[in-house]
Amino acid sequence: MTKSIVLTGITTTGTPHLGNYAGAIRPAIKASKDEQVRPFYFLADYHALIKCNEPARVKQSSLEIAATWLALGLDTSNAVFYRQSDVPEILELTWMLTCVTAKGLMNRAHAYKAAVAENEEAEGTDPDKGITMGLFSYPILMAADILMFNANKVPVGKDQIQHIEMARDIAARFNHIYGEHFALPEAVLEENAATLLGLDGRKMSKSYNNTIPLFEPEKKLRKLINKIKTNSLEPGEPKDPEGCTLFGIYQAFANHHEVDAIRQRYAEGIGWGEMKQVLFEKINDEIAPARERYEALIAAPEHIEQQLQEGAEKARAISRPFIQQLRAAVGISGLAG
Ligand code: TRP
Repeated sequence: MTKSIVLTGITTTGTPHLGNYAGAIRPAIKASKDEQVRPFYFLADYHALIKCNEPARVKQSSLEIAATWLALGLDTSNAVFYRQSDVPEILELTWMLTCVTAKGLMNRAHAYKAAVAENEEAEGTDPDKGITMGLFSYPILMAADILMFNANKVPVGKDQIQHIEMARDIAARFNHIYGEHFALPEAVLEENAATLLGLDGRKMSKSYNNTIPLFEPEKKLRKLINKIKTNSLEPGEPKDPEGCTLFGIYQAFANHHEVDAIRQRYAEGIGWGEMKQVLFEKINDEIAPARERYEALIAAPEHIEQQLQEGAEKARAISRPFIQQLRAAVGISGLAG
């Protein structure tokens, strides 16, 4: 049986937080243990350059993200875990794809359109102000990530679905011109992925600066949970779990039984202070063993590096011969053969 290839990338610009964990990392780690699939998970460090010009931050983020995945028990015997920049064939493929991608397709990308719209609102500004070619053509780099390994399924958040559709379009165009080389990828929206709210009640996201980093030391984790915004209802007053940040996060960590019990406590008027304590314990119980492994990994980056190098070797065993095939298909190869 050929395993279905599941591929996803994580841009290396930040520190993993609870929202990333519940929404993407935890389901992906679970999938890494599924014998039916062959997961490709990678650090999208070239993507980081699109939005971050701070070398130290890109490097630190790569370390933290890699340590996070390993600490949480990613099965690297089944999954191929690598760093995008260790697979130079991806960039070579990016150019081949760039040359078959319609500019009009890129004009329609949400991220680019939003940036232009924002500029147009500020009167008198150039609509392309601050927009780099990296941002404009980033869906092509993403298509190369996916097509390099002929991924069948790409687990992503809603905001990324358009990019997978673009990858399909680009793959189909290449196949049409040069023959059937690429499988057409499909986006999968994670069913058991949760979207968490952050400290201020908006979606937890590094762009809102309202996150709770996943592996904060215990004391800091407790402090941050205490900072989560609530309404001013007193202990004893019934509370609505729907839309409550604390309840939403609790739900992502507890089983149905526990969630029902807490829903009951809300009706009975559990105080916010107590709920925060309950939530802290719930999260901490799940995270604490991995936090210890994380700290050990961060202190021994050479171990992480070795894992990444092994991953890159597995990835390049595929990308090297495939890029040769693609070069030949487009007419770039030795003249004697
Ligand atoms: N662009 C994705 C994000 O910001 C990350 C990413 C890069 C990715 N390459 C990918 C996701 C390929 C899936 C497949 O979330």
